[in-house]
Amino acid sequence: MDKDILAIGVWDSTLDLFENQYPVPQGISYNSYLIEDDKVALIDTTDHRTAEQWRSNLTAMGLEPDYLIVQHLEPDHSSQIEWVMERFPHCQLVCTATAKRMLPLMADAEKFADRIITVGDGDTLSLGRHELHFVTAPMVHWPEVMMVYDDTSRTLFSADAFGRFGNPAPAEPWTDEGRRYYYNIVGKYGTAVQTLFKKLPSEITVIAPLHGPVLEGDLTSYLSLYQTWSTYGVETPGVLIAYASIHGMTAKAAKLLATYIPCAEVIDLCRTDMSEAVERAFLYDKMVCMAATYDGDIFPPMHDFIHRLALKGFSHRTVALVENGLWAPAAARKMAELFSHMKDITILEPTITLRGRLTPATESVLRTLAKALN
Ligand code: FEO
Repeated sequence: MDKDILAIGVWDSTLDLFENQYPVPQGISYNSYLIEDDKVALIDTTDHRTAEQWRSNLTAMGLEPDYLIVQHLEPDHSSQIEWVMERFPHCQLVCTATAKRMLPLMADAEKFADRIITVGDGDTLSLGRHELHFVTAPMVHWPEVMMVYDDTSRTLFSADAFGRFGNPAPAEPWTDEGRRYYYNIVGKYGTAVQTLFKKLPSEITVIAPLHGPVLEGDLTSYLSLYQTWSTYGVETPGVLIAYASIHGMTAKAAKLLATYIPCAEVIDLCRTDMSEAVERAFLYDKMVCMAATYDGDIFPPMHDFIHRLALKGFSHRTVALVENGLWAPAAARKMAELFSHMKDITILEPTITLRGRLTPATESVLRTLAKALN
């Protein structure tokens, strides 16, 4: 990063669930940046759990911010807005008009109402050597979001985009956790990401997100992945076999099916974190959902999985449905109903009904399904 840009964020290594729902074995970082220039800009704050460390990091820099630039108001970045505005009485808060309207939901904005500057696309802010450009990014993934591009260092401060779960060390692998982060946090808003891409400058050399490592060097792979992900494109041709089995018979069928499909990935929805299951579903172009029937409906882990896929904009995929049921199989019909509300999902016909244990007839049916998927 440019020598004037100082990272003062905090890595919360002990957090177990981000957003109280996504497991983060390596925690998560809340990134925050200072730009030291004739005028000092502070970009975003932090989460309430890390407030004390963040205040200490800021204070240690010995700089008084002239501007607090708020890219994103979600509480994991905005917990210290009120503190900053009280601590630095000359500091002006810079945000979008939408953020200004939402600000009272996060802070007592009445206290600093005369120090709020609203900006939009094309607006600039000169700090001296650094010329900042504002790029609104509504619905990536909240309505008030904007990004900041520093002309001088060619750094894009990208709000939540290009973030990653885990620690902020650049040496850690990025793609798998970046993908899990993208689809679960931003996945629903691919169109908004595409709209943003049309507005971004082409000469970006550094991406400084609000979570995970700063991305530097050759950015092609990150930009290319975001292009694929935000258009719901296929990153890797392949088949995900996702199963939800009560007593193991559906599990046996899933594992047998996998032996007929080279490179198929099999996941047990009862034992796989749902955010990871969602990420794997988006990775491939084909998926087999194999579920037991339960209470005349879909065995709940599969129902939860498909519901989450719908929330995240799952689309443009081929899906095969396999139900299992001993006396009144209903899961395939119920799963098909859920997928029917998603865009460009091709349900492979016929759907398959299994009745209990594996038999030679079952094996034959699964072989035929495998052929259709290969
Ligand atoms: Fe990292 Fe949408 O907050």
